Amino acid sequence: MANSLHLPLFLLLSVLAAHKASASSHNHDHHLRSLHFSLFQHETVNKTGYIVVDGVAGTGISQTTTPFGTIFVFRDNMTTSLNDSSRVVGIAEGTSITTSFDGLRSLSFAKITLKTHGYEGSVSILGVVHNTKPSDLPIAGGTGDFMFVQGYVRSSPVDLQGLTVVYKIEFHLYWPPYATDGPK
Ligand SMILES: *[C@@H]1O[C@H](CO)[C@@H](O)[C@H](O)[C@H]1NC(C)=O
Ligand SMILES: *[C@@H]1O[C@H](CO)[C@@H](O)[C@H](O)[C@H]1NC(C)=O
Ligand SMILES: *[C@@H]1O[C@H](CO)[C@@H](O)[C@H](O)[C@H]1NC(C)=O
Repeated sequence: MANSLHLPLFLLLSVLAAHKASASSHNHDHHLRSLHFSLFQHETVNKTGYIVVDGVAGTGISQTTTPFGTIFVFRDNMTTSLNDSSRVVGIAEGTSITTSFDGLRSLSFAKITLKTHGYEGSVSILGVVHNTKPSDLPIAGGTGDFMFVQGYVRSSPVDLQGLTVVYKIEFHLYWPPYATDGPK
């Protein structure tokens, strides 16, 4: 009999407590939460990245160009420093399709799985990269600790010589107020 009185009171208190918790975390979240860092993406032709469909027009294949329509698929490690022996903290898996007749621009989409700065999850990016200049690619979304993130990555070629090319990827990540994960 005593339980039938306690149960509703307990429920009421827990509802009040939940309401209070969500209201206070709401107030907290009005400051902008962001994270900025850089990683290095290593890509080796015919090892971590392959042309899977040949292009059809424009320029030929060179160190920095591919014919219009070329589809390239990659799965590249991302490390904390330029040295490819440094710690692997990310994987970029994606595709780029050459979309300019001079062979220098391509539409690129990738999922970048990350385990860094105490956060774990992925961000997906979509945009056009230029083969020899820095490019900004918007972040389309995220998973795990990066759920709901917005922002962009800046991809810059660092080393285009030889079989392995290296890109510096600067991440500029912003969590909106309604995201519960990410920096507090
Ligand atoms: C990669 O493999 C393709 C197909 O076997 C070949 O034509 C191309 O020359 C190779 N590229 C390099 C840089 O080894
Ligand atoms: C990518 O990183 C993993 C884990 O560190 C490693 O086992 C693998 O050999 C690396 N791949 C390349 C192509 O370096
Ligand atoms: C890269 O790191 C490895 C292992 O730490 C080291 O032996 C090598 O000398 C480094 N290479 C360069 C170019 O710094």
